[in-house]
Amino acid sequence: MTVEDQTIVLPSIDEIPATQRAPRTRRDDLATLEAREISAWFGDRMVLDRVSLTMPAGGITALIGPSGCGKSTFLRILNRMHELVPSAQLAGEVLLDGEDIYSPDKKLTDARRAIGMVFQKPNPFPAMSIAENVLAGLKLTGTKAGRSERDALVESSLTRAGLWNEVKDRLDAPGGGLSGGQQQRLCIARSLAVKPRVLLMDEPCSALDPTSTRVIEETMLELAEDVTIVIVTHNMQQAARVSDQCAFFLAAQGTPGVIVEHGDTAAMFGNPQDERTHDYVNGRFG
Ligand SMILES: Nc1ncnc2c1ncn2[C@@H]1O[C@H](COP(=O)(O)OP(=O)(O)OP(=O)(O)O)[C@@H](O)[C@H]1O
Ligand SMILES: [Mg+2]
Repeated sequence: MTVEDQTIVLPSIDEIPATQRAPRTRRDDLATLEAREISAWFGDRMVLDRVSLTMPAGGITALIGPSGCGKSTFLRILNRMHELVPSAQLAGEVLLDGEDIYSPDKKLTDARRAIGMVFQKPNPFPAMSIAENVLAGLKLTGTKAGRSERDALVESSLTRAGLWNEVKDRLDAPGGGLSGGQQQRLCIARSLAVKPRVLLMDEPCSALDPTSTRVIEETMLELAEDVTIVIVTHNMQQAARVSDQCAFFLAAQGTPGVIVEHGDTAAMFGNPQDERTHDYVNGRFG
């Protein structure tokens, strides 16, 4: 089946208000991610001030807010990427199923394996084949797998990322030869191959055309059956279409970012409690 076929067969998510989508079955093995009192600094500049947010197991949580309010910083703190920036510091806790990923007895690689990340700009290894791209994470995390296991993992990861049908006949072709939307789904497949419990996505569709965006949104809705998803998006329609929960970040002039309001997406869009949320979701600023 090609992308075009899928677009015809699948129901339009535009036509399905978030409130009317069938509730997902919650499985016991899905992970809840909880940020407690997260503050962040670059040098002596504070950019997040005691942000707390629970991202429910098996749900899609959207982080929204104007540019510069700290959404990407918050997301990077959720899988220990913030600490890669030399001047960066943080305070607070990030609990994955109740256990702090920053506790001294926890390994950085364990956090990265359990909590995957997909970036704004698709970043496959361009010269590596499609199959090698999918398996690239295994090397980084030191996971060993035999030939048949690897083949099965390539197929299942690409299938879950909604890309298998488009690439199954050219798995040895370079990843750089795919379209932007396909490359982004390849990156999703690469993240899924290490079997993360949480997938963080920082504006994953902002470089993509509407059709690719639609395919990725469909993919996210399917993935949420077994992975907890947190997505940053500037696209309010996208937040309304895919997320169950929404958090609105804001940094007033010269002050660090905070969460102004969070809750069910339908309520955040339909009946926001804070005037600033109302203005933002209705496109009055940002
Ligand atoms: N590596 C860095 N060094 C110094 N300051 C940084 C760094 N990264 C981000 N910042 C600052 O931290 C604040 C939050 O940035 P962040 O990228 O988290 O915002 P954002 O909400 O993701 O914005 P956008 O919507 O534009 O992506 C900004 O003021 C930014 O300038
Ligand atoms: Mg950002």
